[in-house]
Amino acid sequence: MLCLFILLSLSSVLCDEKDGGKAYRIPLNDGNSIPAIGLGTFLGFDDKGQKKVSEHEVEYPVKWALDAGYRMIDTAAAYHDEEQVGAGVRSSSVPRENVFIVTKLPWDEKRDVVGSLKKSLARLNMSYVDLYLIHFPISIKPDFSEYDIIDYLDTWKGMEETKNLGLAKSIGISNFNTSQIDRLLANCQIKPAVLQIEVNLNLAQERLISLCKNHNITVMAYTPFGSLFSKDTKPPPPRADDPVLVEMAKKYGKTTPQIVLRYLIQKGVVPIPKTLHKNRVEENIDVFDFTLTDEEYNTLSKFNKDYRVVFPSFWQDHPYYPFEKVDVPAPDLFKGKL
Ligand SMILES: NC(=O)c1ccc[n+]([C@@H]2O[C@H](COP(=O)([O-])OP(=O)(O)OC[C@H]3O[C@@H](n4cnc5c(N)ncnc54)[C@H](OP(=O)(O)O)[C@@H]3O)[C@@H](O)[C@H]2O)c1
Repeated sequence: MLCLFILLSLSSVLCDEKDGGKAYRIPLNDGNSIPAIGLGTFLGFDDKGQKKVSEHEVEYPVKWALDAGYRMIDTAAAYHDEEQVGAGVRSSSVPRENVFIVTKLPWDEKRDVVGSLKKSLARLNMSYVDLYLIHFPISIKPDFSEYDIIDYLDTWKGMEETKNLGLAKSIGISNFNTSQIDRLLANCQIKPAVLQIEVNLNLAQERLISLCKNHNITVMAYTPFGSLFSKDTKPPPPRADDPVLVEMAKKYGKTTPQIVLRYLIQKGVVPIPKTLHKNRVEENIDVFDFTLTDEEYNTLSKFNKDYRVVFPSFWQDHPYYPFEKVDVPAPDLFKGKL
């Protein structure tokens, strides 16, 4: 009870002081700080490939999110929605400087990191981002004809330049594995502040999280719901109606997605749930007024099966492919167009 009281008081003090949002902020290793939750904006795929973003489709959720107390929005050049993210921020009453904007370097423009970020900034209509990430350690030729073999250490030099120029306040990486992070740490001037990876109930990522903890790198959790809403029978449980989750949700007067987000926050990672629905945008940030017990936390940890949702095995022949390889790669439906 005392713990809960301290946690709640601390959250409200931190958020009032920093940005007026609902989430407290976590210090980064470069002196900046990141909100404890953010809004994801990737629309995913349908059978025609990556979904096209329609008018206002992302802009409105971004505004709803800021109105609801979010202070972080996650986008990427590859999501083709940076314009709408920028418009959503400008249409809200929250000042730009109180919002933590994350965007990512695409895999087809790696020779010119500063140029890529400047293009993102033009689309966002902003003069800086709060966090710039290398989206994937692999790269592909600009015409998407074949892989490009560019050492991510060289790419990182460009990332450092974006920070030195003030175009990105913090810099980081996404989808790097442990050996790639070790190699980067041994060869950089500026340490990455953040690693963004898939983390959810089915994918605990203990090795990567502990490596990051040792180097004071903050972990952002993408695809935080994992297979919670999947209709496919292949991914392991739980689904949103799992009795274990439902019981916890009832106890706290919350929904099962809120239980999952709360679990990730207590795990010390920063979830970035995506939704285009106003009620869900509001629901997903309403997770700062309860705490799971250690026993409940441990029960949820047992769902781990090291199962990935985001698994672009069609890229697995690239020398910097970060994930485990499989005998039969996924069909190359989205090759180079993810
Ligand atoms: N760095 C990377 O390589 C990488 C990879 C993947 C994702 N990401 C980032 O992480 C973000 C989140 O990951 P994600 O989009 O893959 O998956 P996610 O946030 O785990 O799940 C999104 C799905 O959950 C549904 N949903 C959200 N809140 C809900 C709620 N309260 N109740 C019921 N359904 C709910 C959404 O549907 P509706 O929209 O219909 O509500 C959507 O289908 C992305 O948007 C992107 O910003 C980064």
